[in-house]
Amino acid sequence: MHKNFKNIDKVVFGRSSFNQLDSIIAEKRHDHNKYFLFIVDNYFKGKELEKRVPAKPEDIVMFINVDAEEPTTKLIDTIRDNILKSKGLPAGVVGIGGGSIMDIAKAVSLMFTNEGSSTLYQGLNLIKKPGIYHLGVPTVSGTGAECSMTAVLTGSEKKLGLKCEWTVFNQVILDPDLTGTVPKEQWFFTGMDTYIHCIESEKGSCNNTYSYAYAEEALKLCRDVFYNDGAGQNAVNDEKLMVASLMGGLSLTVSEVGICHAISYGLSKILHTRHCYSNCLVFQHLADFYPQGVKEFKEMLAKHNISLPENLSKGWTNEQIAEMAQVAYKLTHMWNHYYGADWRNKVTLDSIEALFRRL
Ligand SMILES: [Fe+2]
Repeated sequence: MHKNFKNIDKVVFGRSSFNQLDSIIAEKRHDHNKYFLFIVDNYFKGKELEKRVPAKPEDIVMFINVDAEEPTTKLIDTIRDNILKSKGLPAGVVGIGGGSIMDIAKAVSLMFTNEGSSTLYQGLNLIKKPGIYHLGVPTVSGTGAECSMTAVLTGSEKKLGLKCEWTVFNQVILDPDLTGTVPKEQWFFTGMDTYIHCIESEKGSCNNTYSYAYAEEALKLCRDVFYNDGAGQNAVNDEKLMVASLMGGLSLTVSEVGICHAISYGLSKILHTRHCYSNCLVFQHLADFYPQGVKEFKEMLAKHNISLPENLSKGWTNEQIAEMAQVAYKLTHMWNHYYGADWRNKVTLDSIEALFRRL
């Protein structure tokens, strides 16, 4: 079976395209209880972007701090319950922020129309009804959350996405101006998420001409941003990284991520390490799986004077490592992509634990 993937309905790309948000949502304002929910990264509270959010008096603007932890099922359920109780079903949801805010906007949109806790729907195609209109405005480039079919949530049991066609945004506004103030380390780690998406997407059984073309183009853009002469944070590279993030995300949607993401998810679930940083912690130790990619990654680290801690696993208990391995082992689609259908003959909980002990 070939994947039949859902793309974003509409995309606008370009400097200052954020100014079009008001007119884009105008035609949707008549739906349901005729108001919009804006979910904005708390980073922008009191900043210039806050004043540019085109909220009407009836709308709700909610600032969420995603620094401490990645979105949880509890957070999504609470937002949904409180809003339905106070104002009923909104016409739509707009998410303005990084990957976590994109995931929150996508998940909330779905949970407005699907009863019960979001923990019931963590997995593939478990969502029963389409969500409400949702629009994403990424302000950090790299996670691919702007185009993915997944809203990744951490629940009490698992870290797993609400994954289905309806998760994908109805509209995305890609305005590279909004990414100009991202702190350097966050810029690097989030950008590396795209780089790793492409490396993983290309290496495995799900890779095909379509996913490969997206990955190659995204890698070319990543090298301009992080590797080649002219690398660094500037206006031209902000545009390139924004497009790379989208194309890397499309590549992994058609293909799949691999070993780095499986291990990274285990780490994030147990120790709450942020996704992009977690990927970088893991990827540096995977030279035997992705030799060329890891070599280039280390050169990019050096070029930008970014250092990553090592010997982390020395501080973890055997139980923690076992729990991490359990989480990673359950990501069967990632192992299947790297090793093929007989991956269970090649990967064991012990071999996964050994990967965690490299960290
Ligand atoms: Fe990722």
